[in-house]
Amino acid sequence: MGFPLDHETPRAWVTLVERQPTRLLEDHAHCELKAASSAHALIAKNPEHTELVQDLADIAIEELEHFKVVVSELESRGGCLGEQVENRYAATLHRRSAQSRQSLVLDRLVIAHLIEARSLERFHLLAEYSTDARLRELFAELLPSEAAHQGFYAKAARNLFGREQAEARIARLRREEGEVMSELPFSYTVHSGMVGAPDLAQAER
Ligand SMILES: [Fe+2]
Ligand SMILES: [Fe+2]
Repeated sequence: MGFPLDHETPRAWVTLVERQPTRLLEDHAHCELKAASSAHALIAKNPEHTELVQDLADIAIEELEHFKVVVSELESRGGCLGEQVENRYAATLHRRSAQSRQSLVLDRLVIAHLIEARSLERFHLLAEYSTDARLRELFAELLPSEAAHQGFYAKAARNLFGREQAEARIARLRREEGEVMSELPFSYTVHSGMVGAPDLAQAER
């Protein structure tokens, strides 16, 4: 499938979110804000790694720029940003990782890598299959930097913890990500799960 993930999202997800694009955009705006916050939190936990701190600061700035772009698209469609709600996908992933965690920093890096990978997979679907030209354009614009973030977090985990430990943790948490996907409902959010999703083979025939 080309993404380091266990479950492939069916194209029917694009059809679903297109029915209510402002709900997708509102959810996504908050995802961008949370991505910036998670970069801040990693800076606070790793002040001694100066190169990492610089890179994370760049990511935080980029995520806030994405936030502004997504909010302005939301507002141009008559939507408005509501209060932030818990992202069940990310919260469940963090909670499940705690059961076998050896390092909070390693897990935060690996989970950031997986969240970026899942976002990227769904942006690809939107950029390719949305019937809404502006949504296709918007998500195609966001793709390159989210692809870079996905790679950056995996590389940072390898640099700080060694290839073997980082890869073992990526493999373990990738399995957890697959389980979380199989427990959450299929819906309009960027990190919705697969419960109730049409069968992939059926949906794309
Ligand atoms: Fe982003
Ligand atoms: Fe990102």
